[in-house]
Amino acid sequence: MVDYSLIIKQMESLAEASSECIPVMANTAALLFSEMPDINWAGFYLVKEGFLLLGPFQGKVACVRIEKGKGVCGTAWEEDRIRVVADVHAFPGHIACDSASRSEIVLPLHNRGEVVAVLDIDSPLLARFDERDREGLAELSESLERIINW
Ligand code: SME
Repeated sequence: MVDYSLIIKQMESLAEASSECIPVMANTAALLFSEMPDINWAGFYLVKEGFLLLGPFQGKVACVRIEKGKGVCGTAWEEDRIRVVADVHAFPGHIACDSASRSEIVLPLHNRGEVVAVLDIDSPLLARFDERDREGLAELSESLERIINW
């Protein structure tokens, strides 16, 4: 079981050196990638000029721009809600960056009430993300929203 409170503590402690977006996101992606079993991608997309632009991540190379409403990431942004997709092949418009991915969770991050980024995690297992992951990652997202100097 993933200890999300430990990941949050580690992220907060690393962010004491700098609360700039890139180092905080880069270390968070590295923490998630090393601590979460059965995942093949963990990282961020940042809202920029009407698109999602690839941010710090761990895993295979990924698509650089995602339009609003496209894929799981663009849908989570447009609907401004956490999306947990048990089977990405059953999600219309899913963007396959790594053909090994089978399930995905995407969480929007906010600054001043607006979505400014999304946290995206992919797994090669079907239905990898459960309610505990959703709650733990939602807490992590809230902490990132507070800490990052947007
Ligand atoms: N699968 C995502 C695209 C990003 S990659 O998974 C890293 C989507 O459908 O939005």
